[in-house]
Amino acid sequence: MQSQRSNTLLWFDTCIHPDDVVDAKNYMPEYEYTVTGVKRIKKRERVQLGSTVVINGKALAIFRHGDDRFFAIQQICPHAGGNLAMGDIEEIDRMLCISCPRHKWPFVLLSGDCLVTDTIRAEQYPVEIRLTNGIKSIFVGFPGLNQTLFYEADF
Ligand code: FES
Repeated sequence: MQSQRSNTLLWFDTCIHPDDVVDAKNYMPEYEYTVTGVKRIKKRERVQLGSTVVINGKALAIFRHGDDRFFAIQQICPHAGGNLAMGDIEEIDRMLCISCPRHKWPFVLLSGDCLVTDTIRAEQYPVEIRLTNGIKSIFVGFPGLNQTLFYEADF
């Protein structure tokens, strides 16, 4: 029988206020077609959508889409090291994806799945907005407490 603790998440405070994360909804890519019919993203001012933080030994990119949708995903692309925090957020097949700025491979923000190949996947973490001393902050949950020496009660 699986222990209940194996499903426990350990939550870490990123110390990032939700309002400090760029709302990607305001920077969704727009497309245009060249005279030869090639579809490309319209040039626009580059805005870094991902807020970066190193937490629990992991470099993460935190994204926001709208008022209340937040995502945490590993900052370094698992394909070849692109900086996912610098990518664009696009909706593909009704799924919000972060497109790596290096080779444009999209990763589903809710699962980390790569839409180009199923051989790689970005680490993705649950996010909660919590109040600490009356101040909102983004918390990220890490699974696998059963594999560590520490339990939530230790913190
Ligand atoms: S480095 Fe990210 S898609 Fe290649």
